[in-house]
Amino acid sequence: MSLTTLIQQLPKAELHLHIEGSLTPELMWQLASKHNITIPYNSVAEIQAAYQFSDLQSFLDIYYAGADVLRDQDDFYALMWAYLTRCYEENILHTEIMFDPQTHTARGISFDIFMPGFLRAIEEAKEKYGISCLLIMSFLRHLSQEDAFTTLREAEPYYSAITAVGLDSSELGHPPEKFEQVFEKVRELGFKVVAHAGEEGPAEYIWQAINLLHVDRIDHGVKCQEDESLMQYLTETQVPLTVCPLSNLKLCVIDDMQKHNILTLMERGLLVTVNSDDPTYFGGFLNANFAALANALPITETHIKQLAKNSFTASFLPEDKKQHYI
Ligand code: HPA
Ligand code: ZN
Repeated sequence: MSLTTLIQQLPKAELHLHIEGSLTPELMWQLASKHNITIPYNSVAEIQAAYQFSDLQSFLDIYYAGADVLRDQDDFYALMWAYLTRCYEENILHTEIMFDPQTHTARGISFDIFMPGFLRAIEEAKEKYGISCLLIMSFLRHLSQEDAFTTLREAEPYYSAITAVGLDSSELGHPPEKFEQVFEKVRELGFKVVAHAGEEGPAEYIWQAINLLHVDRIDHGVKCQEDESLMQYLTETQVPLTVCPLSNLKLCVIDDMQKHNILTLMERGLLVTVNSDDPTYFGGFLNANFAALANALPITETHIKQLAKNSFTASFLPEDKKQHYI
């Protein structure tokens, strides 16, 4: 069996996916027209062509602007439904989806608009596709800790629909320590914790996410290799890393996929997974991320199977359900 067929056929979980980063240029165009919103593009092709980034910030500027077309409950439903349909097509059986409430509440769009839209699509996908889904609410780290506390309070009616709380957006200059108190409250409330760390930021930010936020998983974390003691810690504790290869390439974290360190991390015994991050902005959904690795690195069938297995091991599914997939 070819690696491409194996990648397609293997049951997989996705653990690092921003739902706003799955907005296709086609849906952006359609929603802009529906709501009479002027966007700085004259066609779907022009939207696609604008996705050339030099670093994380140059991407985030376009990503937040793109999310402005999401206005009513049906828009959030359509966004989530499109992603879950793609999961079905790619044989992703379980997915843990991040959403950025502040991107919407800052525009006057409340939890009562986006959450019902998301939840309706998730319920339908469970029924129609048998896909299991958990939600991760992410705080924007370029905003203040006070803002994160407000968001946590606003989310209260939806706590039962949320499994974990995360930290994303501009990493450099916004270290995990900025959010220590709010994550203490998050943990008190019983949520799992994740944080983007070591994407552009240094290994020190990964240590902070571990020691101050007490994360259950690190998002990205590819900079861990800068610190040998951190490598040993991650190997011993098996705190998972949700690695996003095409994201790393598009945001110039690496300049060539052949230089990606995922195989080195695996061979050192870290619990790494493959994910798509913001698939419509970075040029591929989950299977394309696997394929990009397979094309650039000396990856074998054993590696692919291990990565697919890791995706369930590193998930927030209860143990009995994990075992069912592994
Ligand atoms: N890093 C930080 N914030 C983000 C990302 C990312 O890769 N994608 C969406 N928000
Ligand atoms: Zn991310």
